[in-house]
Amino acid sequence: MKRLWKMLCAVFCIVVMLCALVACGKEKDDKKSDEPEKKAATYTMPDVTGMFYEDAMLKIREELQSAGFTDFEVHIAWYWGTSDPKAAAHISGSDPHTGTVIVDNGQKVSIILSAPELYQDNDREPEEEENEPEKVLVVVFSVTGHTKNVAQMIAEIEDADLYEIIPAEPYTDEDIDYKNNNCRALKEQYDASARPAIGSEKIDLSGYMKIYIGYPIWAGSEPRIMDTFVENYDFGSVTVIPFCTSGSSGIGLTGTKLATLAGSGNWETGKRFPATATKADIQAWIDSMK
Ligand SMILES: Cc1cc2nc3c(=O)[nH]c(=O)nc-3n(C[C@H](O)[C@H](O)[C@H](O)COP(=O)(O)O)c2cc1C
Repeated sequence: MKRLWKMLCAVFCIVVMLCALVACGKEKDDKKSDEPEKKAATYTMPDVTGMFYEDAMLKIREELQSAGFTDFEVHIAWYWGTSDPKAAAHISGSDPHTGTVIVDNGQKVSIILSAPELYQDNDREPEEEENEPEKVLVVVFSVTGHTKNVAQMIAEIEDADLYEIIPAEPYTDEDIDYKNNNCRALKEQYDASARPAIGSEKIDLSGYMKIYIGYPIWAGSEPRIMDTFVENYDFGSVTVIPFCTSGSSGIGLTGTKLATLAGSGNWETGKRFPATATKADIQAWIDSMK
């Protein structure tokens, strides 16, 4: 009987222990169901190369949200001193910023877009400004070729266009025979109102920054056809540089007279050359004006 009693006690203890174990396991299971289910989740960052930071962040945030993540941070590592990264910065091509972020549900996702290659537009090397070469024009009137020769040398040195004033009625040898006081050229020179007509087509002066104007000295002054020329053009604020050739006379006040008749342009003093002027002489003069 005593033996039977011991056996019953042992069975009872086992049953109690088993019940306790079952209860404990159930409690654990209950607790487990309260917790969110943990499972691995994967987020693959898109290629944000070339995007503005703000746009890249927005894209990643939207993708994380639509993938079901609720707790995440997407940061920019630095703005490189600009308060407006959208306007000034974007992610450079050499750093792709792609990667796979594997997270457990509930764990905070933190993505930092750091870009050592990031640059601001205003950090870029300023592009070489393609300076348009200064457009230069050489205007010349010449009968026996001396002044035209100088004009061609100026045009070569200055890489300039050349415009020749050709009289509507060309000057014959007789016309320029200055030993004859009655020759056409001298008659014109003695008449301040004479304005010989120009036969060459009009030139468009727009775009020229500097205009050389050359002529021979006739009876101590500029040929009247030069008066015709300057009165027919607007030189605006262009630099005008007179030059002349002569037997011996200087340029005198011819430049000033032409400037007055033109009523426009910034006229320089100008220079007289002999018929024998060389390219070196012309170069030295041009250099002296720079
Ligand atoms: C009508 C006429 C008048 C001239 N008067 C002068 C003058 O007053 N002083 C001078 O030194 N040379 C004078 N010359 C010489 C020219 O100025 C010189 O030969 C000039 O270089 C000619 O230029 P061109 O070959 O471009 O026509 C005169 C020439 C002509 C045809």
